[in-house]
Amino acid sequence: MPNPNVTLTAADRSVTLPLVEGSQGPSCVDISSLYRETGHFTFDPGFAATASCKSAITFIDGEKGVLLYRGYPIEQLAERSSFLEVAYLLLEGELPTEAEMTKFEHSVTHHTMMHESLKNFLRGFHYDAHPMAMLCASIASLSAFYHDTLDIQDPDQRRLAAIRLLAKMPTIAAASYRYSIGWPIRYPRNSLGYVDRFLHMMFEVPSEPLELNPVVAEALDLLFILHADHEQNASTSTVRLVGSTGANPYASVAAGIAALWGPAHGGANEAVLKMLTEIGDAKNVGRAIERAKDKQSGFRLMGFGHRVYKNFDPRARIIRAKCHEVLHKLGIHDPLLEVALKLEEAALKDDYFIEHKLYPNVDFYSGIIYKALRIPTEMFTVMFAIARTAGWIAHWIEQHEMPGGRIGRPRQVYVGATPREYVALDKR
Ligand code: CMC
Repeated sequence: MPNPNVTLTAADRSVTLPLVEGSQGPSCVDISSLYRETGHFTFDPGFAATASCKSAITFIDGEKGVLLYRGYPIEQLAERSSFLEVAYLLLEGELPTEAEMTKFEHSVTHHTMMHESLKNFLRGFHYDAHPMAMLCASIASLSAFYHDTLDIQDPDQRRLAAIRLLAKMPTIAAASYRYSIGWPIRYPRNSLGYVDRFLHMMFEVPSEPLELNPVVAEALDLLFILHADHEQNASTSTVRLVGSTGANPYASVAAGIAALWGPAHGGANEAVLKMLTEIGDAKNVGRAIERAKDKQSGFRLMGFGHRVYKNFDPRARIIRAKCHEVLHKLGIHDPLLEVALKLEEAALKDDYFIEHKLYPNVDFYSGIIYKALRIPTEMFTVMFAIARTAGWIAHWIEQHEMPGGRIGRPRQVYVGATPREYVALDKR
C-alpha cells in the first residue's frame, strides 16, 4: 500500500502532510498545516492545482472527458432526464421518486412570481441596460424582499431560498429582457412546465397567442441540463466564497452571476456568436486561426479551451449533435454554422491547438442553438445563469450542511514596497 502521506522539505524544515482521498479523482495533499509547520504558503495562481473544498455534487475527469452529476453520466441525463429533475438531483443527491418530483415541481411552480415592487426596481434601469446587469442586481435585491429566508442557520429557510432562486430566475430573466425591448412583462403561467413557462414569459405578445414549438423547448431543456453544474468553476467558487462569509443566498448567487458574466466563463457564448459574425465567412477562418495563435493580437478563439478538459468537453459533443438536429428541424440555414464548422475543423488540425490541447467547449455551439431558438445574443449568458442556478444553490446548501466550513481567505505573495517613512506633502 502506498504511503498515504507526502513529505515536503523546505530549507532545514520538513513536514509530513496527509493525503485526502475522494471517491474518485486524484488525491489531494492537505497543506492546511504547512504555514504553521514551515512558515511557507503555497502559490497557485488561478487555483490550477488546488481543491478548495470537499463536494459530493459533480465529478469531472478532464483527461477522459467525463462529467457526472451525483454519479450519473451527463450523456444519460441529457438523453433521459429533464432540467428540473436534474436540479432536484443536484440539490438532494438522488433522483426523485414520482411523488418527490411532483412535490418539487409544485413547489418551484408556486414560487415563480416575482414581487410586484421588483418591477419598480427594473424600471430604474436605462432602457439599453444589459440583461446580465439587470439580472445580477435584481437577484441581489431579492434579499430586500424575502426576509423570511435570510437566516442561513435554518435548514428550512435555506431550502426555501434555494427553491425561490430556481423558480424566480427565469421570471426575472424574461422580465429583464422584455423591459429592455419595451414589451409588457408577463406573469409566469402555472399550467406550463419550467422551460415552456420561461419561453412564454419571453415571447408571448398581447396581440396574438403564442404557439410553443416543442423542438425549441426540448433543445432549451437540454442546454439547461448541460449547463446546470460544473463543480468548482469560477462562478460556483464565487458563490461559495461569498457564502463562506455567512452572506445570504441571494447575495451569494448574485455574486455568482457577476462572475459568470466574464467572457472567459459564461460570457463566452455571447462572445462566440460575436466572433463568428465578425469572421463572417468560411474563407476568413484561416486568418482568425492565425490571429488566435499570435499572442500579440490579444485575440483568442472564443468557445475553445478549458481549464479542466484537455481532450474533449463532453457537453460540447452533445451540443454539437443537437445543433445540427435543431437547425434541421426548424428548417434554419445559418451561415454562421458553416463558419463554426470550418473553424472547428481548421483548429483541430492546427499544431498550436493540438499542442495546447484546445478543443471546442460547451459554449462553442450553444450560441448557434440559442440564435436558432430566437434567443437574443445579449440573453445568452442569462440562459447560462438560469441553468447554473441549479448548481449554485446545490453548492451553497452543501457548504452550509457539510461540517468544517470556514471563511475563504487566500493569502498572497506580496510584491509591493517594503516599509518606508511617510513624507510630508511639501517635501515630495
Ligand atoms: N485561443 C487561443 N489560445 C488559447 C485559448 C484560445 N481560446 N485558450 C487558451 N489558449 C492558450 C493560451 O494562450 C496559453 O498559451 P501559452 O501556454 O502558449 O501561453 C494556453 O493556451 C493556456 O491558456 P490559459 O489561459 O493559461 O488556460 P486557462 O486554463 O487559464 O484558461 C480558458 C481556460 C477557458 C479561460 C481559456 O481557454 C479561454 O480563454 N478560452 C476562451 C474563452 C472560453 O471559451 N471560455 C468558456 C470556457 S467553458 C464554459 C465556462 O466555463 O463557462
